[in-house]
Formats: sequence, C-alpha cells, structure tokens
Amino acid sequence: MGIVLATAGSAVGLGNIWRFPVETGENGGGAFIVVYLLCVILLGVPMMTAEFIIGRRTHTNIASAYEQLAPRQPWYLTGYAGMLCVTLILSYYSVVAGWILKFCMSAFTGQLSRVTDATAFFADFSGSAIPPLVYTVVFLLITHVVIERGVQNGIERFSKLLMPLLLVLMLMLAVGSMLMPGAKQGLQFLLYPDFTKITPSVLLSALGQAFFSLSIAIGCLSTYASYFKSDVPLVKTAANVVGLDTLVAIISGFIIFPAVFSVSDVGPDAGPGLVFVTLPSIFNNIFSHAPVLGYVFSLMFYLLLVLAALTSTISMHEEVTAFFYDRYHISRRRAASYMTVAAILLGSLCSLSFGPLADFRPLAGRTIFDAFNDVTAMWIMPLSGIVLSVFVGWRLPRKVVEEELTNNGTLHLPRFVVPSFLFLIRWLAPIAIASIFISEL
Ligand code: PFF
Repeated sequence: MGIVLATAGSAVGLGNIWRFPVETGENGGGAFIVVYLLCVILLGVPMMTAEFIIGRRTHTNIASAYEQLAPRQPWYLTGYAGMLCVTLILSYYSVVAGWILKFCMSAFTGQLSRVTDATAFFADFSGSAIPPLVYTVVFLLITHVVIERGVQNGIERFSKLLMPLLLVLMLMLAVGSMLMPGAKQGLQFLLYPDFTKITPSVLLSALGQAFFSLSIAIGCLSTYASYFKSDVPLVKTAANVVGLDTLVAIISGFIIFPAVFSVSDVGPDAGPGLVFVTLPSIFNNIFSHAPVLGYVFSLMFYLLLVLAALTSTISMHEEVTAFFYDRYHISRRRAASYMTVAAILLGSLCSLSFGPLADFRPLAGRTIFDAFNDVTAMWIMPLSGIVLSVFVGWRLPRKVVEEELTNNGTLHLPRFVVPSFLFLIRWLAPIAIASIFISEL
C-alpha cells in the first residue's frame, strides 16, 4: 500500500500546481488542455503501466532492469538517459521547490500577507543571488535526509491524510478565484479551446507536460514499481494515479487563470513566476475581511505544497540512489550523497540563472533553468518514451506482459484490457510521440 501511495505522491507535485498553469498559459489555454487530456489518457495510462511492468518484473534499478530483460543489448542505455534526465529535473525543480519554501516561511512570518505588489516581491526574491540559492540547497538537503532514512512511512502518511487536505484547500481556492472580479475571462481562456492555436510546438509542450506531470518514461516509476508486491493491479493503479494527477492539474488551472485575468499586472504567459505572482493576490482577495483565517489557510497551503514537492523530489532522488546502492553495494547514505551533491551543483546554476547568470544563455537563447526544462520535457522524455513503448510492446515477450498485467493469472481483467494495452503501447504511443517530435523539428 505504502509504495503505491508514494507513486501517487511522485506524480502529484509542482508539475501540476506550478508547471501545468505555466504551460497552459504559454500555449494558448483551452486547446492546450484538450491535447494534454488526450495525451494523459491515451499515452499516460499505458506508458505508466509499461514502466510498472519493467520495475515489478525485475525488482531492481532501471539500468539493471533493462539489462536483465534484454541481456547484452543496448536497451539499458535508456536507463542511463533516464537517470541523467531525473538529475536535471531534480536540479531545476528544487529551485521552484525552494521558492515555495520561501513563500511558506514568508506566510509563517506574516510577511506575505503584507505584500502589496506580488510581482515585485517575487522578482526581487528570485532575481537575487543568495537567498533563492540557500532555499534550493535546503530543499535538497531535506530530500537527502528523507532518502537516507528510507522512504515509505512518511510518504504514506502524507499521501493518505495530507493529499486529500490539499485537494480540499485547492477546491476552496478555485471557488474563491472564480469569484474574483473579471474572473470570467479566465474561465473563457480555460474552457473555450481555440484550435487554431495548436501548432507542433504546442503539441510537443502538451506531450512533455503529460510525461512530466506523470513522472513517466525516465525510470522513476519503474524504480518505485520494483518495490511493488505481486498483488498490485498495475493497470488499475496507473489509471488511478493518472486520474488523480489530472484532477489536481485541472483544479490548479481553475485557481490560477480566473485570478490572472482579474489582477491585471501579469498575463497568462508570464512564465515560471506565474503561480507565484498570482497566489498571494488570491489569498488577499478571498480573506480580505478575515486576515487571521487568511494567515492560517495560506500557511497550510504553502506547507502542503512543500510536502507535495518533497514526495516528488524524493522519487527522482530514489531512482539514482537505488542505482548506486544496488549496483555498487555501497551504503544508502553514500549512494544518496552522490545524487545530492550533483543536484546541489546543478541546482545552484539553475537558481542563479534568474539573477547573476540571467545573461548566460547556453542553449538557443535560453537560460540554464529554461534549457534544463526544455531538454528534459521536450527531448529526453519523449525520446525515452518511444524507446519504452517499443521495448515493452515489441521486445518483451507477450507472455511477460500478460503475466504482469494479470498478476500471473490471478487477476481477471475485462477482456478488452490486454489487447487495448498492446495496441496503445505498440502502435499509438511510438507513432504519436515520433510524429509530434518530428513535426516540431
Ligand atoms: N511528476 C512530478 C510533478 O508533477 O511534480 C515531477 C516529476 C517527478 C517528474 C519525477 C519526473 C520524475 F521522474
């Protein structure tokens, strides 16, 4: 039970609450959401299941898993690509998690409720050199400590009790945001898809966001699935996680966009800071007549966001820690410290790329932070996704797939499940991902 809940904890995180609104805002709103929904349903569920199959079949880290299933063939290289990808994601994700931690602290000290210009507050903070860097490092050290101690208990408690609480708070905020003056325009932005806005780059962004939000294709979920027991129903688990994750993302859209159109100084395409400049005004607006409630609710909300981010950073960290630990028979502490050190070094660069390193543009005019973001979600994740689907669809014997889907024949699935899975993973996934990827090139 614990590890299945941890899987949900990996999926639900800043990808839903921070990245989803940012991507939706930059890619035209409703039409983006339609493509996103198609991606999570048609590709997300089968690909998450495929990763579960690899992990649970082998009960080992991602590189050894490919080696075990296809000895002396180069498939294991995707395992390394996946580990590189989670390292890059962990680095820039921790910067955003650090910002959340800062908001949590400021909510605690009461500073946040006194902020009158949220845009300037966020810009001053994220653009400075040292404070955001310190928060990034602190967040990584917290992740490190949890990883070192073994993951399951704490995460289980979070996912069972606190995730529902987060959902309730989010629903409240969404209602509050929709009641703000001028919110209707935001609802239109979300609910009336303008399909003329769909370009290859919007398709690739939606695909990348779907993979990112579900943590798929880079070995993280297969690492968690290596701890699954033999009675965990893989398809059902994938469907539940995808459902929950999508719900959280959509609610988050309903929190952010009505407010964005209501408070006028930022547009929906404001980029990585979008959520940070919008949330304080939502709290101020909803609780303008009840500041004490505002204090309590905002503090609780940011605290829950910190925990949601933590259950995701833990899952990324665990993938690489498990690899070093299994592979080189070193202590967990030592294995974990390799990943932590790498993430602190790279994460510091990402953090500085909003301040002193803002003019350093290593890739196509993008800052380090943006480059990490693009390379992972728009390159490594889709390409690894193609390999994953071809591997499970064509390289693994069908018998293995059937055994895993049916828990060695003990689980009676409706008849359409196995053939649909095979169709989606053999044909739809690789063809759709490759076409989107190539059309963007
Ligand atoms: N899915 C996480 C989120 O939405 O916040 C982020 C993530 C976790 C991405 C683990 C990739 C990963 F391997």
